[in-house]
Amino acid sequence: MTRTVAVVGATGAVGRDLRRLLEERAFPLDEIRLLASERSAGTVLDFDGEDIPVRALSEPGVFDGVDLVLFSAGAGRSREYAPQAVEAGAVVVDNSSAWRMDPGVPLVVTEVNPDAVSGRPKGIVANPNCTTMVAMLPLKALHDRFGLRGFTATSYQAAGGAGQKGMDELIAQTRALLDDPGLLQSDGAAAAGKTSHDVHAAVLAFNVVPLLGTVGERGYTDEEYKLQNESRKILGLPGLAVAPTCVRVPVMVGHAIQVRAQFDREAPVESACAAMEAFPGLVLDDLPTPLEWAGRNETAVGRVREDLIDTRSLNFWVVGDNLLKGAALNTVQIAELMVARGEV
Ligand code: A2P
Repeated sequence: MTRTVAVVGATGAVGRDLRRLLEERAFPLDEIRLLASERSAGTVLDFDGEDIPVRALSEPGVFDGVDLVLFSAGAGRSREYAPQAVEAGAVVVDNSSAWRMDPGVPLVVTEVNPDAVSGRPKGIVANPNCTTMVAMLPLKALHDRFGLRGFTATSYQAAGGAGQKGMDELIAQTRALLDDPGLLQSDGAAAAGKTSHDVHAAVLAFNVVPLLGTVGERGYTDEEYKLQNESRKILGLPGLAVAPTCVRVPVMVGHAIQVRAQFDREAPVESACAAMEAFPGLVLDDLPTPLEWAGRNETAVGRVREDLIDTRSLNFWVVGDNLLKGAALNTVQIAELMVARGEV
């Protein structure tokens, strides 16, 4: 049989990793179709040594004959075009937030709930939010051992979580502010005024921005609600208590999260570490930092500590590349899982 795969958002930051991973992991395909906005139509991208012209997503018939479509071009595009791809006979793996909480769409982390991939009445499988993804591997490992009741999570999210434009904005601001480093100490507000921000909620260079996404009910942002709602769905724990705070930090790639997790049973550090070490895709590291884990496939956990207040709680620090496991890698792993099961 021949297999045709399309990548929507092929020119973006996640799209670049999707192309590279499909190549490097020798994903079984006979034809690749690279799709993006009309602005990019005609641009030529290399895939496995071949020049592939980018086509506009809006071009009629782009999904004809396609078996599998990987979407990473924002929720609006997924909402509009994923059903068209399914209608044309393809299976969709969607990296946007458009379909994640739809009861007819499984939300899959391949090491955590792989069997969910096969029940997809709408023909769509969703890939989780990049921050939720980072927390899922350690929380699943610990849940299986101690029974997870809830967790408090504070994220330290990279600029790259907002795509290429998020990283470009951080670079431009950093360059502008380095012209006058003294001002960063003497008058931070004046320094911030020397540059501008559009993608991030405030100037991100040399700063920390404790607002990410759109503020909704009770003062929490949509990004924070994703951490709560997606965790409940992936872990199959609808009553899971989650206290999320999402923060943007001036890191290019790699989300970090400080997690305080509460369990049904006592959770000694030693057995917690053993459970996490044995979990696929998860590694223990003394001091995992986003910079040092950028470009790596694994999720890294460190600073595992018994809680000082509650012996049934643990504190840990977890880091993962938001563009890889947090986006492109898990998307490709979902596709590989469906191929292995003969479903695509
Ligand atoms: P383009 O490069 O043509 O704008 P990132 O997450 O790095 O910002 O990338 C976003 C991806 O989504 C890019 O590949 C971008 O293509 C694509 N995209 C954005 N808007 C549209 C659109 N209206 N139709 C199709 N693709 C789009």
